[in-house]
Amino acid sequence: MARIFSGIQPTGIAHLGNYLGAIQNWVALQEGNEGIYCLVDLHAITVWQDPHALRAQTRTNAALLMACGIDPSRSILFHQSAVHAHARLAWIFNCVARFGWLNRMTQFKDKAGKDREAVSTGLFVYPNLMAADILAYHATEVPVGDDQSQHLELANDIAQKFNHDYETEFFPVIHPRIIGGTARIMSLRDGAKKMSKSDTSDQSRINLTDDNDTIAQKIRRAKTDPADLPDHPEKLEGRPEARNLVGIFAALADITQAEVLRLHGNQGFGHLKEQLTALVVEKLTPIREETNRLAADPTHIDTILQQGAARAAAIANPIVAEAERLVGMLPAA
Ligand code: TYM
Repeated sequence: MARIFSGIQPTGIAHLGNYLGAIQNWVALQEGNEGIYCLVDLHAITVWQDPHALRAQTRTNAALLMACGIDPSRSILFHQSAVHAHARLAWIFNCVARFGWLNRMTQFKDKAGKDREAVSTGLFVYPNLMAADILAYHATEVPVGDDQSQHLELANDIAQKFNHDYETEFFPVIHPRIIGGTARIMSLRDGAKKMSKSDTSDQSRINLTDDNDTIAQKIRRAKTDPADLPDHPEKLEGRPEARNLVGIFAALADITQAEVLRLHGNQGFGHLKEQLTALVVEKLTPIREETNRLAADPTHIDTILQQGAARAAAIANPIVAEAERLVGMLPAA
């Protein structure tokens, strides 16, 4: 039995990329493992968030995760800010990680853009908090999409440097669990960009709560190229939009890309898009309905998250207290 940790930012609404790249693996890994799943609200505020919207979206995304199959009686589901051990360990890691390491993070470069003087310092040390999230639990398995792999390498560098600096083997090695075909779902408007909540065009993504008409419309308008679909995955090379739609289809139907092209190859995109719409609708309708049902009772969601936070704190507090002791701090009480 392994201890699994993963997190999602509670901004906007989780989309099909989050689902296929991460959430569906979280659900699968609950079986036979100890799953710890976190709504990372402290990460969310590295970019300004409207406080009312953040509170509402934290609840909606908690409901969504449960609707996708995260079972709070089996796994631990909670919001990051409720377990102070994360911030305590993150501070220690701020003092372990080197400026140069963080300066090389591609996600920081992308998010900061040209005006680095104006971004929050939290955005810069974002990966240190992420390392703390995982290591506060001594979790070793981390299911994520491949956009997070550089952050996980950094988490291992931090763990190693901590162990070296304080002559210990306290922090374990983390193993990213990145599942091949679904590790990077691309935008429906541009096959070179990943599907993302921060894309200004809502047409670029399928939100897990989109209604059936919206799903159909987004897939109908999804960018394609003028050629027919090929008959073999190798021929998707250089055709990112076609590859993305075939990849999403294969993941949802649980078949290979070769099988998708055996069914839909050598013809235009119309048929594939129609069938893909049916698949997405079939997958998301129960998730949307269950999310709406759960979201109607925010007090119940708050209770579940608070109970999850108490269970999370019971694991993380002694680990972080020991890290503080190793660094040379006196006991808190
Ligand atoms: P976030 O909120 O951006 O995304 C949550 C998860 O969804 C995956 N993902 C995707 N997978 C495939 N295709 C896509 N287009 C796509 N977009 C997002 C992400 O890889 C992620 O697994 N920093 C993290 C949250 C985090 C975390 C952690 C993760 C904080 N602490 C500790 C793991 C362990 C983030 O912003 O994910």
